[in-house]
Amino acid sequence: MHLYGTANINDYGNLQIGGVDTTELAKEYGTPLYVYDVALIRERARGFKETFERLGVKAQVAYASKAFSSLAIFQLMEEEGLSLDVVSGGELYTAVKAEFPKHRIHFHGNNKSEQELRMAIEHNIGCVVVDNFHELHLLEKLCEEYAVTMKILIRVTPGIEAHTHDYILTGQEDSKFGFDLQNRQAEDAVKISLKSKHLHLLGLHCHIGSQIFETTGFILAAQKIIEKIAQWKASFEFEPEVMNLGGGFGIRYTKEDNPIPPSRYVEEMIKAVQQEVEKYQLSMPEIWIEPGRSLVGDAGTTLYTIGSRKDVPDVRKYLAVDGGMSDNIRPALYNAKYEAILANKANEQHHETVSIAGKCCESGDMLIWDLPLPEAVSDDILAVFCTGAYGYAMSNNYNRLPRPAVVFVENGESKLVMRRESYEDLLNLDIPIIK
Ligand code: LLP
Repeated sequence: MHLYGTANINDYGNLQIGGVDTTELAKEYGTPLYVYDVALIRERARGFKETFERLGVKAQVAYASKAFSSLAIFQLMEEEGLSLDVVSGGELYTAVKAEFPKHRIHFHGNNKSEQELRMAIEHNIGCVVVDNFHELHLLEKLCEEYAVTMKILIRVTPGIEAHTHDYILTGQEDSKFGFDLQNRQAEDAVKISLKSKHLHLLGLHCHIGSQIFETTGFILAAQKIIEKIAQWKASFEFEPEVMNLGGGFGIRYTKEDNPIPPSRYVEEMIKAVQQEVEKYQLSMPEIWIEPGRSLVGDAGTTLYTIGSRKDVPDVRKYLAVDGGMSDNIRPALYNAKYEAILANKANEQHHETVSIAGKCCESGDMLIWDLPLPEAVSDDILAVFCTGAYGYAMSNNYNRLPRPAVVFVENGESKLVMRRESYEDLLNLDIPIIK
């Protein structure tokens, strides 16, 4: 059994996180319940920041809030001195309501609406990561209207696509995001920005993928971008103040995953950037990164109550829980794998192999296949590990299941940070045709 962060087994044989017995959490808040280990999030945030400090490199670590967006997590990231990457008006609205320092908010997205760009300008956020020509022209026009200057990064696609264990090089990357670095799109975007009175071009951004276990892709991306910058410096004197190398650092979901420590990504990226800028005699830019999963992923655990069981002799044993693809769509969507234990029988030996079914009316709603567990009965509490990123964030009301509650645990205390949706909440948007 692999336990993350502050998780341990207490004297009652129950899973404890942040010094709080998870079976007590299930009783107090009900299930399904997302539990976040705050100390582990702080440790991850500090790990990234301290690596940059140790290496003496000016940096911003921006939390990619799409991984889990809420007032509480934004406030926690602010406490840790992180910046914030938002990708929609909704995420920006949440950041504003959380009173997140606006100058440390970065706005992403491949199709920001005029209304979203207006929001960014009106809140005077730190920077807009411009993704395409439509946005570049629209933002310039709006900044002129407001008579302001907006700091921007130009998002480029360096022609590298990274996947969990490998990466592919594509001459002309087939991606909906960013300006292509190899043809003249990125160069044109840089030139337009430099000419603009209302845009202050800070530098370039790239993001090569998610759940990446190797540093090769990041190094290749940095090399390609810096090579291009050297050409731009020679031909029109452009040198970026900032280089944002995105997020995507992989984490451990199951024993098949062997991620390198988060600090290694940063160390190797920096080494590559330093080598390249030296090679072309450029000045060292400020380095920004935007991890999501690696900040919150393994800090999240979902608690479920086991309900029904179906044994198909010689075929499979199904155990059904009180949630499923409505609170965690990743197994159904990506075939994502998770590990889990019985929180109330955490010390007991494995007794059988079962498959964990969700409660949605859909055969594909299976959370975990072939999970070894102690003998499980109704009302046992199943704890699924590593659900902190893209779990709650992608939850939905399929089958009109209310979204779960979320609690933060730290130093023996729990705090409700998202209340459970009620049936009334589910009708919030409904308008009957007969009153
Ligand atoms: N920056 C940009 C521009 C991104 O598009 C993303 C993720 C990140 C940063 C953060 O990446 P991370 O460090 O979390 O890997 N729903 C999928 C993941 C989608 C990632 C989208 N972009 C999942 O559940 O695996």
